[in-house]
Amino acid sequence: MSVQREHWGSRLGFILASAGSAVGLGNVWKFPYMAGTNGGGAFLVIYLGCVLFFGLALVMAELAIGRTTQSNPVGAFRKLAGRHWSVVGGLGVATAFIILSFYIVVAGWTLAYVVFMATDTFGGLGVEQNTTIFKDFVASPIQPLVYAAVFTVLMIGVVMGGVSSGIERASKWLMPLLFVLLIVLAVRSVTLPGAMEGVSFYLLPDWSQVTGATWGGAVSQAFFSLSLGMGAMLTYGSYMSEEQNLPRDASIVVGLDTLVALLAGLVILPAVFSAGLEPSAGPGLTFMTLPAVFAQMPAGAIFGIAFFVLLAIAALTSAVSLLEVVVSYFVDEKGFSRAGASIGASLVIFMIGVPVSLSQGLWSDITIGGKNFLDLADFMTSSVMMPIGGLFIALFAGWFMGPRAVEALKSHPAQSMPLAGLWLFILRFIAPLGIAWILLQGLLG
Ligand code: PHE
Repeated sequence: MSVQREHWGSRLGFILASAGSAVGLGNVWKFPYMAGTNGGGAFLVIYLGCVLFFGLALVMAELAIGRTTQSNPVGAFRKLAGRHWSVVGGLGVATAFIILSFYIVVAGWTLAYVVFMATDTFGGLGVEQNTTIFKDFVASPIQPLVYAAVFTVLMIGVVMGGVSSGIERASKWLMPLLFVLLIVLAVRSVTLPGAMEGVSFYLLPDWSQVTGATWGGAVSQAFFSLSLGMGAMLTYGSYMSEEQNLPRDASIVVGLDTLVALLAGLVILPAVFSAGLEPSAGPGLTFMTLPAVFAQMPAGAIFGIAFFVLLAIAALTSAVSLLEVVVSYFVDEKGFSRAGASIGASLVIFMIGVPVSLSQGLWSDITIGGKNFLDLADFMTSSVMMPIGGLFIALFAGWFMGPRAVEALKSHPAQSMPLAGLWLFILRFIAPLGIAWILLQGLLG
């Protein structure tokens, strides 16, 4: 315990790593199809509302709890409030396991698409054939699992490298590159024939489309995309130094995450309409659409390879933050070595990943409550466990810590916090009531 806790190498390192956690498959794979299934523009507006009204406040709360306790999620709650509250941290560790079980599978699809683009699998084919290629690939029993395994090994490698050397170095120059590439793709996508219909679907809210599912979808997407409610931000906050301006840096991270999601929607949805696909096609949407966009670009293959490589890296920096929750728990609380915890946890995660991957083919008939294993793992975490975690974190910071939470936000005691009152009000009332209302709606169907 006397070992000095590792810290981020620099302020930029923290921002890039946290943005690396937030920006991932959630932005590029999940956000466009969630917007597509939930009515487009109206979803977008409600999503932005969720980010603004409680997303940012919760990111700040998690970072602050992590920084003042310098602990993993379980240890943090125990230090501040004793054993009972540490259950919230435990829930987070369990959530990380389940998210990773499908995250490695979808990240594996991304790696496979690097290979597909490089071997000209989609050369000259239309969207229908691209869709078939995607479906056949994810339905095959072995191949996707091999890619998931490759991704898992990469993830273990980064996590074992330690905080500042491994994670920071990977994030530093690749995330800006992904961003630039998304801008290029958005320009191509909105200028495709027939794309304007997709642009208006995405940007013009049609309020008649809004149902309880739209609200629930937006809330769960906000949790997933901002890495909230399960201790990832808390863990990264624990490597943050006292001097850092927490509210400012949290806003930057939330802003970057939101920008990337917005851009990804602007890449995918116009292309979906241009190609005549259904925006509600579900989890395959990004993979079925993008090859058609690349096919209509000069040097499309190169862009395609670069894009999927960068997306895989974005997924890697997110997966690393998920595994870091698990590893910091087993290292700090259970005395595991970093290597032992990384490898052991990843083996368990991969084993849960097997049925998740098979649920796209061989085991697609096995459903629980109408959901196959992938949908179930996604639903349980994004729509149930993360919101519950977020609810308790809001109550904890807002009521249990109260003014102490405001102190934890400050980088020095004299720093002024003009909006501290509003922040506490959100944590005490708006976030808990809003999340509870949406959770109940979801559970009551
Ligand atoms: N925010 C990540 C993404 O959008 C996923 C994630 C969730 C990462 C929870 C860490 C914790 O892809």
